[in-house]
Amino acid sequence: MIIVNFKAYPESFGEKGLKLAKICEKVAKESKKEIIVCPQTPDLCLVSKEVSIPVFSQHIDPVEQGSKTGHITLESVKSYISGTLINHSEKRMKIADIDYLVKKCRKFGLTSIVCTNNIDVSMACSLLNPDYIAIEPPELIGGDISVTSASPEIVENSVKNIKKINPKVKVLCGAGVKTGKDVKKALELGTEGVLLASGVVKAENPEKVLRDLVDGI
Ligand code: G3P
Repeated sequence: MIIVNFKAYPESFGEKGLKLAKICEKVAKESKKEIIVCPQTPDLCLVSKEVSIPVFSQHIDPVEQGSKTGHITLESVKSYISGTLINHSEKRMKIADIDYLVKKCRKFGLTSIVCTNNIDVSMACSLLNPDYIAIEPPELIGGDISVTSASPEIVENSVKNIKKINPKVKVLCGAGVKTGKDVKKALELGTEGVLLASGVVKAENPEKVLRDLVDGI
């Protein structure tokens, strides 16, 4: 599985975000590999209507509907998405809020991906029973060296320790992932796939990068 997080990059909102999502769809269909997109929040409705690959939210606020100005409730976007990232490094949450969102995703039949920054946090979050944990060392995010080369032991030990605590939780990794070789290594380290952003969103030719990434599976 390859998850492309569009973040808040200027290259990935509105019509540009839709174009990128369609490229992801094209590569997913042609390669028969799973690619999931996480568009910018204002584009969730548009993108989900235009592509047939899974669309995830980058973030949901841990609140109920009502008097909550500016918040994104799960209820307001659930018809556009198949799942959501939770606790991304760039949008950290308290553990109680992560727990609340994992449970709410399960209630609505949505996939939960909890992002973590190290092995201890990964182990703690695995007790919350999310569908996936995505380990991403923050210092490598947006950089040129993949976590799979810079810190393979973090990925491998996260997988081992998470599985010891909760074998049902699947593991992803991310940060600096850009090539099919990185994806292949991520799978060899025991993950189910990768979560990435800049390598695709900021690429001159995202389609070419995506084709290389899926070749790693
Ligand atoms: O959510 C993906 C992420 O934080 C990794 O970003 O730019 O290093 O692929 P990037």
